[in-house]
Formats: sequence, C-alpha cells, structure tokens
Amino acid sequence: MTQLTRLQLQAFRNAEQINCQLCSGLNLFIGDNAAGKTSLIEAIWLLATGRSFRSRLIHQLIQHDKTETVIFAELQSHIKPYSNHRIGMQRSAQNMTLRLDGETIRAQSEIAQKLPVQLLTPESHRLLEEGPKARRQFVDWGCFYQFPEFIQWWRQHKRLLKQRNQALKQRLPALQIQLWDTQLVETSLQIDQLRRRYVETLTPLIETYCQALMPELEQTLGCHYRPGWPKSADSLAQLMQANLNKDLQLGHTQYGAHRADIRFRFGNYEALQTLSRGQQKLFVCALMLAQAQLHQQVTHEPAIMLIDDLPAELDLLHREKLMELLDNLQIQHLVTSTAQSLIPIINPENSQIWQLKKGKLNAL
Ligand SMILES: Nc1ncnc2c1ncn2[C@@H]1O[C@H](COP(=O)(O)OP(=O)(O)O)[C@@H](O)[C@H]1O
Ligand SMILES: [Mg+2]
Repeated sequence: MTQLTRLQLQAFRNAEQINCQLCSGLNLFIGDNAAGKTSLIEAIWLLATGRSFRSRLIHQLIQHDKTETVIFAELQSHIKPYSNHRIGMQRSAQNMTLRLDGETIRAQSEIAQKLPVQLLTPESHRLLEEGPKARRQFVDWGCFYQFPEFIQWWRQHKRLLKQRNQALKQRLPALQIQLWDTQLVETSLQIDQLRRRYVETLTPLIETYCQALMPELEQTLGCHYRPGWPKSADSLAQLMQANLNKDLQLGHTQYGAHRADIRFRFGNYEALQTLSRGQQKLFVCALMLAQAQLHQQVTHEPAIMLIDDLPAELDLLHREKLMELLDNLQIQHLVTSTAQSLIPIINPENSQIWQLKKGKLNAL
C-alpha cells in the first residue's frame, strides 16, 4: 500500500518545525482551536496537488517573519517491487522547487502520481452546492490515476481552449477561431469517453457506500454525468460552429469537455435538496470512499485519506461507521479532531495519536 512514513514541515503557518513518523492505519491529530490541525492537512494536500484548499496566496502559508517554507515526505509502497520515495516542496514568495528522490522536477503531476490523496473537510459539502468545477475535479481525480492517457488529452484540451478563447477575445476572423475546433472536438470526445467509463465503474461503489453510511435513504441514487454539451446536439463540431457568434459575445467557448459536470440525485431530487447537512457530508464521504476503493482495485496502490475535523456534522454512530469503513479499506488515514473521545479507534494496533499545541506535535 501507499503510505506516508514521514512528514516534515518547516515554517508552514504556525508550525515552525514538525517531524513525525506516521503509521499505516489511523493517524489521529488532536488539538484545540488554532493548534494547527487544518494546517497540517493543508500541507500534505499542497505537497500532493500543488494547491491549498484555503488560500491562494503563498505568502499566507509561509510562517510570518520567515521567507520560505519546506514540506517534505517519505513514501512507501508495499507492492512489489517495493519502492520508497522522497518528495519535497520548497516555496518562497517568488519560487517553488519540487524534488522527487533527490532530483528537481518540474511537473507537479509527477508528485501527484506517487502521492494519491483524498481530502474531506468541513467544507466538502460544497462539492454539491457550488458550480461544476469541483465535481469535474472529482471525476478527473479518478481518470488521472486510472487512465495514463488522460493527462495528455486534458493538457492538450486546456491549451487548445486557451488559444481559441484568446482568438475569441481578440475577435479574429471566424476562420482563425475555427482553426482550433477540430482538435477541440477530438480532445473533448476523448476526455468524455474516459470520464464516462470512470463514472460507470464508480457508480455502483458510490451506491454501496451510501447504503453503508445512510441505510435510511430509500430513494435510489442517480449519478448523472454531463459531457459539457447537450446530448441533443447532432455533433459537438456542428454545435461549435452554430454557436460561434454567441462564443464571440461571451469571449469564451461554451461547449466542450471543460464544461462537464456530474449531478447526483436521490429519486427525483438533487442530493443538495433532499439531504440534510449531515447527510450531505456522509454523501461526500461515500464519494471519497468509493473513489478510494476503485483506485485500489485498479492501481493496487491505495490512496491516502485526509480528513480535517472529522466530528464536524457527524454523530457518534456515523463517526463509528466511517472509521470502520476506512479500516476495512486498509488505507492510511490522517484525521484531525478537537478531542480524542470523539473519534472511535477501530484498530488500536495500527493507530497513532498525536497532540498538536501551537504548531508543535507530540506523540501520545
Ligand atoms: N503564515 C502564518 N504564520 C504563522 N501563523 C499562522 C500563519 N497562518 C496561520 N497561522 C496561525 O496558525 C494557527 C493554526 O491554524 P489552523 O491550522 O487553522 O488551526 P486548527 O485547524 O487547529 O484550528 C492559527 O492560529 C493561525 O492564526
Ligand atoms: Mg481547523
């Protein structure tokens, strides 16, 4: 299994220096408000994805009065051939350096490939509330790990789209704008095919985890994937051609893989309308667990689950259920909470509890 064996932080938010060895099961971080729990989760997410989930501005992540922050992790895979990796990120206001096994690398995706992490925070229900972007990212997370060709198509689509949108903004002649259409149709169709396949295999697993976490739900779940253009269209190529004037008005390309979405319904209702806040959180848990299981089945390298403030919105019964499911999946999970008593420990032999105080970490 993939496992973080060591984590080191330097000058990351309120943590001047953290250095810990992690176990392969539950790593529970306990601390009062402002102890640095979310920061620790944020650091791992940043290392894995290159993004923070709470600030866009890098200088906010660097400890006040410091000029740079360093996040370093050691990773172990238990699948033959056994492999260990050392991953590092150093960031200052101007620069970012990424290191993998002693070499400087350029692409964040090389790190992401080695370090598949999933994230659950008290804000995760926003996946259901907000625009399609987060849901697209959810689907693309799976496609990225499952289909090696996905990233190339995705990158190519992004590049072509940027060029077409620039041409639209500059109001270039129609022929020059449409220069990009054939390729954009191709990348859209390729991406669509992979997303569709992914959603198809994922859906039964989402159902299973919904059942496990919310047996009380009677209506059947529907996962409705939308490619980014109307089904009724004869072809995407025609649609793009017919909508050129509208695209020119808007200054961007309305149809294509960049507009994909996935919507979730229970019976006839959108998940957001029919589920309580707690159930929304459980539903997002079900999505993550389903992804984690599928990831494991396909890649044989389990993902790592980061859960910030697990008790938020979840009652004891559901906390227990969730912890059991994580334990069954045998994936490493890093969980934060304000109190230890709120987290049921399912497998004490494979758990490590930590106390965080003002950015300092101690094993309990
Ligand atoms: N760049 C920074 N330098 C120093 N301290 C920071 C920085 N950014 C945030 N903090 C502080 O770090 C503390 C930890 O925040 P957080 O990780 O959200 O704690 P928790 O999740 O445990 O409530 C807060 O008191 C915050 O003010
Ligand atoms: Mg927090």
